[in-house]
Amino acid sequence: PGIDIDPSKLIIEETKTPGKLQNPEELVFGKTFTDHMLTIEWTQKDGWLNPQIKPYQNLSLDPATCVFHYAFECFEGMKAYKDAKGQIRLFRPDKNMARFNKSAARIALPTFDPQAVIDLIARFVKLESRFIPEKRGYSLYLRPTMIGTQKTLGISPPGSALLYVIASPVGPYYPTGFKAVSLEATDYAVRAWPGGVGDKKLGANYAPCIVPQKEAMSRGFQQNLWLFGEEEYVTEVGTMNFFVAFKDKKTGQKELVTAPLDGTILEGVTRDSVLSLAREKLVPEGWKISERKFTMKEMDEAAQEGRLIEAFGAGTAAIVSPVRHISWKGKLVHCGLKDHEETGELTMRVKNWMEARQYGDEEHEWSYIC
Ligand code: COI
Repeated sequence: PGIDIDPSKLIIEETKTPGKLQNPEELVFGKTFTDHMLTIEWTQKDGWLNPQIKPYQNLSLDPATCVFHYAFECFEGMKAYKDAKGQIRLFRPDKNMARFNKSAARIALPTFDPQAVIDLIARFVKLESRFIPEKRGYSLYLRPTMIGTQKTLGISPPGSALLYVIASPVGPYYPTGFKAVSLEATDYAVRAWPGGVGDKKLGANYAPCIVPQKEAMSRGFQQNLWLFGEEEYVTEVGTMNFFVAFKDKKTGQKELVTAPLDGTILEGVTRDSVLSLAREKLVPEGWKISERKFTMKEMDEAAQEGRLIEAFGAGTAAIVSPVRHISWKGKLVHCGLKDHEETGELTMRVKNWMEARQYGDEEHEWSYIC
């Protein structure tokens, strides 16, 4: 109902108190923000109102606002990069906007014209250009968010909503830098289930991830690995998609595997990009690329037989995150790295392929010049 988002109606109010730039090396993921925010309000009656870019500021919401009670919230994670010429590039923003709309629709929040929001984000990041570090491994993390803003404890579709985008300059996701992580397979909790909402980027999917992660950390592991069902299918790692490379028992053919999009797996933009790059670059080298179910048992067997080549997590925040080993049923399943290695060769290649397109070293349709 009502009108769609109209970027030509954008109202910009610039800050009178620009913030100081932080030394990129001191950035902690998601702790510092830029000077401005992009906001677009929606009402059932009038549709999307005029977009605004204004000084970064608190929201003022009634304590009865539906987002606080029933989790009417969804979000995106995407990044803006500065290339060698100083141009700002978004990475596959169409993918993020398509998923944002799917997430919003699932929790009865309004949808929008994806290109309109991409245009507005481009305006926003250009205004915040000085915050984008010009350094490999660094970028401006963007957090598009949508919340239901209606004041009611009644459970009904929100009659009003707010779409906003904030931006945070970031460096490498893990404070330890690009290092292999150790995982604990979680056997007492599941992240997502068939018919659930695990394939949507809802805030409500993330809060329940913290306790298993904390538990894993208390036993000396950095992240937890999410399994599903009695078969113990491997699904995701922490808040990332999971990839593993096997060597086939009979033929010796190399296979890169990730779980299929069956509704329990987040439709990661990095996941899709890794699959696409792998099909383009690894298939000619004789690899097989599979979106299929695989189990912890299969990983353990392959590890014991020396056929587990590598494993890594894939997500927007960390891009790729090499995995050293997985604690499972009281043993450690080693994921192909030698003790002194922090990454395998494949994980490193994937990282380089991704970065070439993100930073515009390689001109490609995935890169959106603002
Ligand atoms: C990612 O980009 O890998 C994530 O999902 C993490 C983000 C929610 C901070």
